[in-house]
Amino acid sequence: MSLLKIARMGHPVLLAAAAPVADVAIPEIQALIGDMAETMADAGGVGLAAPQVHAPLRLFLFHVPASRAGEGAAIPVRAVINPVITPVEAAGKVLGWEGCLSIPGLRAAVPRWRQVGLSGQDEAGRPFAETLSGFAARVVQHETDHLDGVLYPMRMEDFRLFGYNEELDRYAPELL
Ligand code: NI
Repeated sequence: MSLLKIARMGHPVLLAAAAPVADVAIPEIQALIGDMAETMADAGGVGLAAPQVHAPLRLFLFHVPASRAGEGAAIPVRAVINPVITPVEAAGKVLGWEGCLSIPGLRAAVPRWRQVGLSGQDEAGRPFAETLSGFAARVVQHETDHLDGVLYPMRMEDFRLFGYNEELDRYAPELL
C-alpha cells in the first residue's frame, strides 16, 4: 500500500464527473481502495473520494468516528462504489460544518439533507441499500458530490460561515 497525493481545489480532476466502476473485484480497484484507506487515515479525514486522489471513478471511502456520531452509531471505514443518493425530502435540510481534504485549513457551514437513501456496492461488489441520517448522511452527500465535480463551497448559501479552522475555533459563529 502507499500514500496517494491528494488533489487540491483548483485541480480540474475535482470538477469533472467520474466514471462508473465496471468491476469492483479487479486488482486495480482493490489496490486503489487499500491505498485510499491508508491516505484517508494519514490525512485524518472522515471521507475520501477517488477523484481526490486523481482517479476519476465513482468510488469513495468514509467512516463516522464515535466522536462525530452524535446520536447515531459510529461507522467503521467502508468503501462505497457507484453510489446513488436519494434525499428523504420530507426530513428537510440542516446546516452543519464541513471540511475537505482538498480544501485544507478551511471549513464552512453547508446545508445538506438530514436523511438520505444510499445504494451502491460494497468493496466486495455486493449491492446494498440503506438509509443514513445525521453526520453519516452529511458525509455521503459530500463524497458523492465529489463524483459529480461538486465541492462543498458550491453548496453553500451563507459565505459568512466560511473560514479558516484556526479563526473559526476562536470566533465560532453562534449560528449553529
Ligand atoms: Ni471533500
